Amino acid sequence: MEYRNGKKEDFINIEKFVKDAIFPSFYRDDLSEEQLKENEWVISVSEKSCLSAIERKDCGILVAHENELAGFIIADKSPKDHPEIDWLIVSHKYQGKGVAKKLTQMAIEWIGEKEAIKLGVIHFNKRAIKFYEKLGFKDSGKIVGKHKIPRILMIREASS
Ligand SMILES: CC(C)(COP(=O)(O)OP(=O)(O)OC[C@H]1O[C@@H](n2cnc3c(N)ncnc32)[C@H](O)[C@@H]1OP(=O)(O)O)[C@@H](O)C(=O)NCCC(=O)NCCS
Repeated sequence: MEYRNGKKEDFINIEKFVKDAIFPSFYRDDLSEEQLKENEWVISVSEKSCLSAIERKDCGILVAHENELAGFIIADKSPKDHPEIDWLIVSHKYQGKGVAKKLTQMAIEWIGEKEAIKLGVIHFNKRAIKFYEKLGFKDSGKIVGKHKIPRILMIREASS
């Protein structure tokens, strides 16, 4: 598996990649129309988010690649409180193989260990929550943003 900075060509068909990877993690049988639309919105902004992260100096975008895209992560230094891990998506084929762990470690390194890092995770996405806990993120007990599907704010404290 190759880990490197993302390039424009990596994100051709990214909407399908994201759509397939977030199912079933972002879904539950009781989601309202509005909440389902929000998931559609996430898929629809994926290409713009990735391409803009490549261009922006305050964003890092890293990919795992093995003849095809296996996963990607976007780190964003622009928030005033703490840098943020904004996207982390690994396709089903490559899940459970340490891809997300490596991408997250690289993103933490890119941000700098001396910074606290935040992220928002869908409250019922138990797998992702457990995954982030393993990498030192803690549930802050707060909800972040005004999403239709609430996101838990997780924070990884700066290492001293
Ligand atoms: C969450 C996600 C990114 C994890 O990716 P992954 O590549 O499968 O994760 P890894 O293989 O790197 O797992 C790393 C660690 O988490 C653990 N882990 C993975 N799945 C787990 C689960 N279901 N329960 C508990 N721990 C789990 C692994 O055991 C591993 O720990 P270890 O190194 O101590 O063995 C991936 O499932 C995904 O893309 N899901 C859909 C999109 C999503 O939910 N993204 C997060 C949005 S905030």
